[in-house]
Parts: sequence; structure tokens; C-alpha cells
Amino acid sequence: ADTHHYNFVLQQAQFTRLCETKTMLTMNGSFPGPTIHARRGDTIYVNVHNEGEYGVTIHWHGVKQPRNPWSDGPENITQCPIQPGKNFTYEVILSNEEGTLWWHAHSDWSRATVHGAIVIAPALGTTYPFPAPDAEETIIIGSWFKGDLKAIIDEALATGEPPEKSNSLTINGQPGDQLPCSAENTYRYRVNYGKTYLLRVINAVMNEEQFFGIAGHSLTVVGQDAAYIKPITTNYIMITPGQTMDILVSANQTPSYYYIASSSFSDGPNVTFDNTTTTAILQYNGNYTTPSAIPLPPLPRFNDSAAAESYTGRVRSLASENHPINVPQSINRRLYIAIALNFLPCTAATCANSTRVAASMNNVSFEAKPIDILQAYYRSIDGVFDRDFPSEPPKYYNFTGNMTSIDVTTATGTKVKMLNYGESVEIVFQGTNLLAEMNHPIHLHGFSFYLVGTGKGNFNNVTDPKSYNLIDPPEINTVALPKSGWAAIRFIADNPGVWFIHCHLERHSSWGMDTVLIVKNGTTTATSMRPPPASLPSCS
Ligand code: C2O
Ligand code: CU
Repeated sequence: ADTHHYNFVLQQAQFTRLCETKTMLTMNGSFPGPTIHARRGDTIYVNVHNEGEYGVTIHWHGVKQPRNPWSDGPENITQCPIQPGKNFTYEVILSNEEGTLWWHAHSDWSRATVHGAIVIAPALGTTYPFPAPDAEETIIIGSWFKGDLKAIIDEALATGEPPEKSNSLTINGQPGDQLPCSAENTYRYRVNYGKTYLLRVINAVMNEEQFFGIAGHSLTVVGQDAAYIKPITTNYIMITPGQTMDILVSANQTPSYYYIASSSFSDGPNVTFDNTTTTAILQYNGNYTTPSAIPLPPLPRFNDSAAAESYTGRVRSLASENHPINVPQSINRRLYIAIALNFLPCTAATCANSTRVAASMNNVSFEAKPIDILQAYYRSIDGVFDRDFPSEPPKYYNFTGNMTSIDVTTATGTKVKMLNYGESVEIVFQGTNLLAEMNHPIHLHGFSFYLVGTGKGNFNNVTDPKSYNLIDPPEINTVALPKSGWAAIRFIADNPGVWFIHCHLERHSSWGMDTVLIVKNGTTTATSMRPPPASLPSCS
């Protein structure tokens, strides 16, 4: 395995989109930010210098960071922010990840503009488990807000109102030619007839899951979240914020221009989107007449849960001899985590407006503290977090049924769940109908996990486990929890450290749809957390 060194500089830069110019935080002045290249098993040192105006942290989404939570990045969970004028070198340790991941800021809403790809090639001397593509490209789906991101989330949290929606989606930083002032810079990917391309698609959108497709072309999905899957041939994918998918596309159509498009999927109440579709162009090289109008790919409608679930239901691990998987066949511990949107209880300060939106896991709305949980745990600093995150919802009711008589308020707290080293853990995420039923992409740091089952309605702990896939479930880091449904994941708690779990819809995470797992050390050095690096950012 090799090592790589990158210098990343957080800096303000001006960008013009949708006819307006704004100054925003970027990495190295680019949007999206720079791509990191490595091979399986390598270690990447990224020295992040903050020349911006406020403290920021960076997270390496999907990198397991064995025994090394110190470089995982979520603000106030594993570190305090890198303050302006300071720097911190992250040690990003790859293990069995192979394919595409991404990095992003993990402070406030800065990830909207501060993110980029991590491309992990097979180890030297090994190859892809599919014919080598002729070329590869990274496709990052993102969000564009005309306003200042920090102001948007600060105001939303201060008022208790839902935050402003984005003004458009983007593909590789561009809204696309269906939107004002965006035609000229629409992202174009040039291809040669007869060749095959590997597209590494990353969903960096802030608040919506996405349907994605290419007009006239079928997609062959071969990887998800840096693990290979059994190839799926499809006309569209559903990809949630946080997820990454590796897709083979054959340029086998009449040479012309074809739309690449992404559109939001959100099956909640009162969902409306202003600019639901972003486009790029797959452009064949050669001599032909430029078409005057081209069709969009026929993506499912924005609220088509059935289409979303029928795609996600097809995903299976490759589970081959060279890419074996290790699904726990039995478990030591099951956590049952109800995911909900709530109101905060009426207190003196909020009674005037008793409809302040919040979100929770097991009726705890997570509150970060100014000292990170990792440091508080490592140095035994009291008063930062409690170890009593409930293993199941505090009360059982018909989670996905009629909610009219249910109390929608949530408690708040900084609660973590302690796990023993090496335990086989199952977590069942239960969607609820509280306030609003909708789909949620749930992300776990420090692990990839096996998605052994999903279903609609309330999880039944007797009958549902009988239908689990314990043979070739997908190995992922972000699961699309279906609307008013459940998802069961399994993993071995063999990574000691402090690991964040949260909804990757940024507004839900900001409202407290988060919790933390602490995996205790094992009995040997090799099963214990590494020591902290010398120069962690201080918690002022
Ligand atoms: Cu992609 Cu906690 O993050
Ligand atoms: Cu959510």
C-alpha cells in the first residue's frame, strides 16, 4: 500500500450561477472541490488549511478509518473545528473500500460547497471485476443556493421554520441548460461511439434523494458505496445523499447529444420542487448535425416511492471469490431506532411559537456540545454526553399508522450508545409517520454495513427476520430508509471509536436526527483506538 499527500485550502471564492454571483467557501477555489486518487488499502494525508472565515471540519464519507476516529471529522463529534488561520492533517486510512467515495465539510451547511470525490482504484496487480472501461469520469450531483449557506441554516434554527430550499440541483457544479443563465457552462461529457465509460456518480445534494438517468442509454450499475455489486441493468437509479454508485455506460447509440439528468425524489406531504431537474450532456464525438432539441430521460415522478424501492430492492453484493462478504449470521445485540420529525416541547422561550421543528432518533433530538464526544470519552471529561441512548423507542405505538392522537414533541439530549468490541450488531431503523412520513437516507460513520432487509409498515421482530438476505446483501454506508417502512442492517463492531449516525438530509441532521455509537476498545493494542494525533484542533 502507498501513501499520498494532499494540500487542501479552505478559501472564499466567487461563483456565478443562475444569473447571480456570490462569495462562498470552497476547497482550493473550486466547486466541486478536488478529487483524491488512491488505490485500495492506501493511506492519504490531507493537510487542511483554513483560510476561510469560520471553523470547519472535513469528513471522508465511507472511509472506515480503522481504529482512527481522530481523522473522521464530524464537528463536535470527533473533533472541534479547524479555526481560521489554522490547519490540521487528516490521516485517511483506506482498508477494503474500492470504487468511489467522497469527502465533504461536516460543519453547519458548508458541505453544500465544500465537497469532492475520492476515487479508489483496485490494488496494484488486481483489476475491476468487470471489463476495463475505456475511460472514467466523476459525476457529482449537488445543490445550488443563491443565498449564504450559514445564514440559511442559522436562520432556520433560530426561527424553528424549515430552511430555504435550494435554487437548483447541479451536475459537476452546473445547473444545466434548462435553467436561466446556465446553458453555456452546462457540463458536457464527450464520448466515442463504441466505447464504454465508467461513471462514478456521487449524490452530494443537501436535502433530496435523486433519480438519475441518461436519455437513450441503459446504465449498468456495478458498485455502490465503494463495494462491488452484481451488475444491474436499468434506465434509472435512485441515489440518496451520501451514496455513491459506479455505473458502466456504453456509447452505442446514434452519435448525437443525449441528456444526462437528475431529479429529486421525495415522497413526503406537501412536497413541491421549484427546479426539480438538472441536466448535463453526453456528447458523441464525430460529424453530425447538432440536434436542435433533445429529450430528457424518462425519470420516475418526484414522489414515485414504488420506483425508488424497486430500484433499491435489486441491489446485491457481488459476493464473489475475490470480493467476499462477511454478513453476521447471528447477532448479539439489536437496536431498534425510530426516526421521526417532531416539534420541540413548549418552553418559556418557545411558547410563543410552539411549532419549532425538530427531529429525533428514539425520541432524543441530538444536541452537539462545544467539546467533541471523542475527546470527552478519551480524556474522561464529564458532562459532555450521556451513555443512555435507548436501545428501543421509549414507547411503542403504531409508528406508521394514524398519528392524530400521538404526542409529536421530542426530548433533547447528547446521548450515545455503547457497544462492546467485536459484537455482532443489528440496527433496525423504523420510519414513522410522526409529523410527516417520508424517506430518510441514514448514514453510519466508521463502518460499512450489510442491508439485510427492508419493508413497509412496522418492523415485526418475529416474522421480518425470516425474510432477511444473509447471502448477498449490499455492503453500504448509507441506507435509503423507505417512507413509513423499516431497514435492518448488520455489522461487526470491530472498529473502536466514536461514530456518528445521522440522516444525510441536512435539514433533518441539523434538527437532531442523529446519534452516536461508541465502540469500546478490545483487549489488545490492535483492537484499541490509536492514540490521538499531536495537533488536534483545540476546543476554544
Ligand atoms: Cu456524508 Cu456524517 O456524513
Ligand atoms: Cu431524514
